[in-house]
Amino acid sequence: MQTTMTKAKTSFVLPKLPYGENALEPTISARTISFHYGKHHAGYVDALNKLVEGTAFAGRPLEDIVLQTAKDPATAGIFHNAAQVWNHNFYWLSMTPGGGGEPAGKLKRSIESDFGNFKDFRAAFTKAAVGEFGSGWVWLIVNRAGKLEIAVTSNADTPLTDGKKPLITLDLWEHAYYLDFQNRRADYIASWLDKLADWRFAEKNLA
Ligand code: FE2
Repeated sequence: MQTTMTKAKTSFVLPKLPYGENALEPTISARTISFHYGKHHAGYVDALNKLVEGTAFAGRPLEDIVLQTAKDPATAGIFHNAAQVWNHNFYWLSMTPGGGGEPAGKLKRSIESDFGNFKDFRAAFTKAAVGEFGSGWVWLIVNRAGKLEIAVTSNADTPLTDGKKPLITLDLWEHAYYLDFQNRRADYIASWLDKLADWRFAEKNLA
């Protein structure tokens, strides 16, 4: 009994999706979510649990593992899986059925202050996301000077390791959109901005 409880305490679990697998249709299909969440994200959780078992990282909070394994080739495998778990946890929360459009309130004012207006922010976010050559992520973050900024990270990389505070993210790996948009990444980005981005989540993170 004791052994079972100890093992359970050290294992990461796949967080429950905050909506049904078909809730983001037609932009993101249930089929995409079933692979992306059920296979890719779940795969990162399983791999992370196997990699940390019996190491000093077992039982540590996810964010600590991400920060402590970054930029060290000896812990690259743990970093890649831990960061991908963190990034995907954050990505699912970055979307909501009936989202998209323009933010309101404090986030709107911050975007206007740091980008001029929402239209210019949207153009810059889109340009950065389209321009990421391979797999990666586009983020709206707060930089160390307290200003909003667009960041792009490659593969599993995350702004957390540069001391930046993520507000919202969009997954640019092909597994996020290929079944629905094939090679049309720009259409995925536009549709996500129009229909899914959860600006209220981003605003909560700004607080
Ligand atoms: Fe992904």
